[in-house]
Amino acid sequence: MTPPTAHPQSWSFRRLTRDDFPLLETWLADDDVRRWWQHDPSPEAVAADFGDSADGKEPGEDLLASLDGRPVGLVQRSRVHAYPEDVEIFERIAGPVHEHAVELDYLVGAPGDRGRGLGSAMLDAVVQDTFRDPQVPYVLVSVVAANRRSWRALERIGFRIVASGDAEPDNPADDPLHHVLRRDR
Ligand SMILES: CC(C)(COP(=O)(O)OP(=O)(O)OC[C@H]1O[C@@H](n2cnc3c(N)ncnc32)[C@H](O)[C@@H]1OP(=O)(O)O)[C@@H](O)C(=O)NCCC(=O)NCCS
Repeated sequence: MTPPTAHPQSWSFRRLTRDDFPLLETWLADDDVRRWWQHDPSPEAVAADFGDSADGKEPGEDLLASLDGRPVGLVQRSRVHAYPEDVEIFERIAGPVHEHAVELDYLVGAPGDRGRGLGSAMLDAVVQDTFRDPQVPYVLVSVVAANRRSWRALERIGFRIVASGDAEPDNPADDPLHHVLRRDR
């Protein structure tokens, strides 16, 4: 007899809308998120920084990540070359970036959801979704070295550190050392 298999987790990703802003505000106000993201969680600041993307006016996507229909996190996804300042950082640390390389930034919103493997699973699912675009050769993430939890979540799903170097940290309290992690198709 075959053993029962666990119910597979079902991740879905959709563009953030303005209706999601109150949830995003609570996530950004969480101390453990603010430690690394340093984003003003006020409604005004969230509308100012996420409004264009919600309205489809940004080249990058702000994605609401849901697990079995429950919103769990935010993933920002874009072609690196859509943002020249990001190209500069990646190329200075890790060398030339392919024109279709994609970059990610992310958070798991609720404190009870962090540290349970959900971040790794969410990132694995979004990378698989990203590779549905046949043009994308690899995914890059730049992580401040102090954020071990974040780069370990990436290593667990097949990213590897390809270079390390200094960049301005989100949190000025952190050392500028960053790791660039990459996962190939
Ligand atoms: C980074 C983040 C997405 C990781 O997701 P997560 O679900 O918390 O992490 P996981 O449970 O998948 O664990 C990933 C690794 O971190 C470790 N970890 C988990 N909680 C930890 C903690 N509180 N402190 C240190 N390491 C921790 C895990 O043990 C695992 O490493 P291991 O393979 O060496 O055991 C999530 O913690 C988060 O949103 N943090 C706040 C925002 C942030 O830092 N965003 C990233 C910006 S680059």
